[in-house]
Amino acid sequence: MECIVGDYSNMANYYDVIMTSGYYDYAKIVDNLVLQDNLQNILEIGCGTGLILEELAKRKPNIQISGIDLTAPMLEIAKKRLQSFKNVALSQQNVCHLSLSTTHDLAFSYGGVWYFVIDGDQEPFMVSHIPDHEANVLGIEKMAHHIAPHGTLLLGIQGPHHDYETVISNGMKYSQKIDPTDIGFTKHYYLSDGTQTLMAQTVKYRTYNFEEAKKMLSAHGLTYVPETRDNKLFLRFSKV
Ligand SMILES: C[S@@+](CC[C@H](N)C(=O)[O-])C[C@H]1O[C@@H](n2cnc3c(N)ncnc32)[C@H](O)[C@@H]1O
Repeated sequence: MECIVGDYSNMANYYDVIMTSGYYDYAKIVDNLVLQDNLQNILEIGCGTGLILEELAKRKPNIQISGIDLTAPMLEIAKKRLQSFKNVALSQQNVCHLSLSTTHDLAFSYGGVWYFVIDGDQEPFMVSHIPDHEANVLGIEKMAHHIAPHGTLLLGIQGPHHDYETVISNGMKYSQKIDPTDIGFTKHYYLSDGTQTLMAQTVKYRTYNFEEAKKMLSAHGLTYVPETRDNKLFLRFSKV
């Protein structure tokens, strides 16, 4: 089994400017995370450059925060960003081989390894940065192993992906193109200065329908819990 995964190296140096030009709303993401009760110990799976963790660490200076990510250049940026926060620990890890010394009350992934897409009133489907099915099963097992009994997993919700281009805050042109594949889709990310391409990154995604996703997660003790709180950005799973 090959754990081929979503490497973001080409995009790393441009990631922050693309994401903070309106792609994600980091303050809102953290508003939803801090709704959870009794947080002592949090893990982000696929923390990228640490934009979520920085906002979380500012708001929750007294809890232990961990972040893992596969892509070294993304994590380097996160390490610089978070170096002054003594309650944050970062490590370069592929979730398929995740190994940390503690379990966590809350693990989450927003746009990270796994997330859900909700298109209008259709059922959510799960998107994975890991194309291989067996590797997904292994990654979920490892992730579940790092969530404490009665702990929570939150997986982010996004709208459907589509082709578009836009000018971002530094004046560069960001564009993305989606190609359907037999296991999900491939997404091409580009950045140009108007005349030449400065960055091109391709990521292959696998998708699972809602029933398949719930079954894969519940096989590792993570049960779907329909949200009653005002949380529109994550689906919630509870560890038995
Ligand atoms: C779209 S970025 C999201 C980063 C961050 N959560 C944010 O909101 O800005 C996805 C991240 O998932 C990481 N990733 C993909 N597959 C992974 C895996 N198997 N294990 C750990 N990290 C992975 C990538 O390296 C990338 O940094």
